[in-house]
Amino acid sequence: MPRCPLVAGNWKMNGLLASLAEVAAMGTAYDAALKSKVELIICPPTTLIGPALEAATQGGLGLGAQDCHVAANGAHTGDISAEMLKDLGASYVIVGHSERRADHGETDEIVQAKAAAALRAGLKPIICVGETRAEREAGQALAVVGRQIEGSLPADAPGTIVVAYEPVWAIGTGLTPTPADVAEMHEFVRERVEARLGGGKSEAVRILYGGSVKPANARELMSVPNVDGALVGGASLKAIDFMAIAEAYR
Ligand code: PGA
Repeated sequence: MPRCPLVAGNWKMNGLLASLAEVAAMGTAYDAALKSKVELIICPPTTLIGPALEAATQGGLGLGAQDCHVAANGAHTGDISAEMLKDLGASYVIVGHSERRADHGETDEIVQAKAAAALRAGLKPIICVGETRAEREAGQALAVVGRQIEGSLPADAPGTIVVAYEPVWAIGTGLTPTPADVAEMHEFVRERVEARLGGGKSEAVRILYGGSVKPANARELMSVPNVDGALVGGASLKAIDFMAIAEAYR
């Protein structure tokens, strides 16, 4: 079975109710022909998942969250569980984004527990990995990402997982790796995912590229072997940019 590409928009800590007009506009541009080529989801801040549900559903877009707690409920003031996100209408959740690894000290162990929590709740985790600039310059990119996959993926993932390779130095900088570097990394990621999951399961895992994906570079990046879609930050805030990226799959 060929993998259906996935383009996911990560709004990060951006968006108010007025931004929902962008979700509606995305739905209008997401016609039947494009739907047959690529799955689209938006991961707005948690505050907007409920309010966005109607426009997203009407337009055929899915919704995802940007993080979840490892527990289903309990004394964790301010936290949100995967079950709550599912209840709101989310079908995906990003876990282990480099901004959370950096801002909140999330380790591979925590990320793995969050991915397992997502699967427990019936959400598809988008598990993020990626090296820093210093690690790439030191020739450590593959080793770092290999370690992150080993540590962050639940070994017996009973359900759909997505992996996003996002070099930290490419996020929000306008810089991207060369297609050759992306090809090398994504082939390696698939090998490491197979080593982790076994039984040919990696063939069904979509491996997204993320980091400064824009309308101008989407076609080139999305045509690299083993790139099964994109995790888009800044360019996902406006329907016109996000849909121009999705158009790479038409
Ligand atoms: P960017 O962010 O597209 O703005 O570089 C990507 C991400 O952090 O997911």
